[in-house]
Amino acid sequence: VVAAGATGTLVVPATLAAGKYPFYCSFHPNMQGTLVVTGKGGDAPEPPKFEQALRTPEVLTGGHISIRMKQAKVRIMPNGPRTSMWTYGGTFPGPTIKRPTGSTTKVTFVNDLPQGSGSITVHQHGGHQSSADDGQPTRFLIERGSRRTYTYPLTDAGEPMPAAFRFYHDHRMGLTARNNWYGLQGMFLVTDPAERELGLPRGAYDVPLHLTDRSLDDENQLTDPFPGPHMHDWLTGAHAPPNDATVGKRILVNGQFAPYLTVRPGKYRLRLLNASTFSAYNLELSNGRPLIQVGTGSALLPRKVERSDILLGPAQRADVVVDFSGLRGKNVLLSTVPRNDGSHGTGSRSAAIMQFRVRGNAHPSPPVPDLLRPVPALDVPDEVAKVWTFGLTKDHHGSFWSINGEMFDPKRVDHQVGQGDTERWRLRNTSDMTHYVHLHEEQWRTISRDGKRPPPWERGFEDTWRLDPGEYVDVAATFTDYPGLFMVHCHMLDHEDHGMMARFEVIAPGAERDLD
Ligand code: C2O
Ligand code: CU
Repeated sequence: VVAAGATGTLVVPATLAAGKYPFYCSFHPNMQGTLVVTGKGGDAPEPPKFEQALRTPEVLTGGHISIRMKQAKVRIMPNGPRTSMWTYGGTFPGPTIKRPTGSTTKVTFVNDLPQGSGSITVHQHGGHQSSADDGQPTRFLIERGSRRTYTYPLTDAGEPMPAAFRFYHDHRMGLTARNNWYGLQGMFLVTDPAERELGLPRGAYDVPLHLTDRSLDDENQLTDPFPGPHMHDWLTGAHAPPNDATVGKRILVNGQFAPYLTVRPGKYRLRLLNASTFSAYNLELSNGRPLIQVGTGSALLPRKVERSDILLGPAQRADVVVDFSGLRGKNVLLSTVPRNDGSHGTGSRSAAIMQFRVRGNAHPSPPVPDLLRPVPALDVPDEVAKVWTFGLTKDHHGSFWSINGEMFDPKRVDHQVGQGDTERWRLRNTSDMTHYVHLHEEQWRTISRDGKRPPPWERGFEDTWRLDPGEYVDVAATFTDYPGLFMVHCHMLDHEDHGMMARFEVIAPGAERDLD
């Protein structure tokens, strides 16, 4: 920790091998540099040892699921004490909910968390459900000792929704970052039997990976890097925005530090979820093989896209196929590497995340088809109905993250839209840090990025967009089925907690609008 105006000295091993070593401020990961070591000799930094086999969270498939939220000890590190966390059902991440599209799914969450956790609210990220079932930050809460049942129809306008890779997580006002850090996260898969004919890897060859990062103390217990939830806790002081970046020192996969997975030669479908509080990961395979992206997490893409690396910010997902054919006996790393797209936006972590050990006999895996799932046509208005501007605002009280210059206020409604209408919205970033902006509730599509056609991997349904400094993205959706209040926010959870959230209201036909 270097005090303002002071100079810090970092002791680096004198035996570092020649090469480039990215470094960054762990409070402000957008402050980055590169240490270049020249000359001969030295050792390359050691990758982690990959000592534990990857766990798969329990999969729940019933029509009415019950999940008890409770404190539990979880094995994050391969050695030493287990880590005490707040969990869904005793594990981190919680059980994976897996349901066929179009089948109504009820999930009862029971709050048995310890004192100090307070009331909880659960959001199915990317879902389409009534306002009361959407995980409102200040209403329909689950108090300690009580329970609440959420209903997820998994339909939109009477039709089954596309198959998707989503997650569920806490959404409590001012405490979302803390509650997620302590463990209230789980994966949610919606399947579609019609996907079968595409021949994508399935069963044991379809592996959901929940990626996140956490800092642990010497006893393997979670640190508590958060200021309190009240405005006076965070508007000023060391954690005041933009200094509220919670970055964990260790990257975890399905809740484990540096796991390995034994795979067979052939293709695997990896569902990659960045569930971190703040960090972006730029994912690639150490052997240079491509990631064949088939989906966004909200749905399959219309066409597959071959990518050398995939940048995912908080809450973003990528559904990819990787090929381990011909690699028997080899080990392949999944790593995050520094962002290399030439953008001056916030960068990504640099670390080896997990290891694949390719062993055994090849399994048959057909090629990935070029055409996957078309996005249905939509008549998108030319006119932008609402601009949401993401920025940093300072006033005499302190500094906060803002949308259209304002801090989130649970008493305010920021935009109203008629049920059944289709609107084009513009998301724009006027701050000098990248944000990852999430829109609740509808099946959103990307119309343009900075006035141009979006890249091929943004041509499907989407719910969370990267907005680099100065960028703007146009999106559109039809507001079907549910009147009521829904969220717009940055999914960097510190930003969400520190003001960068707003709400829109869907107004039923014939009901009155009272905003203007
Ligand atoms: Cu993933 Cu409003 O949340
Ligand atoms: Cu943000």
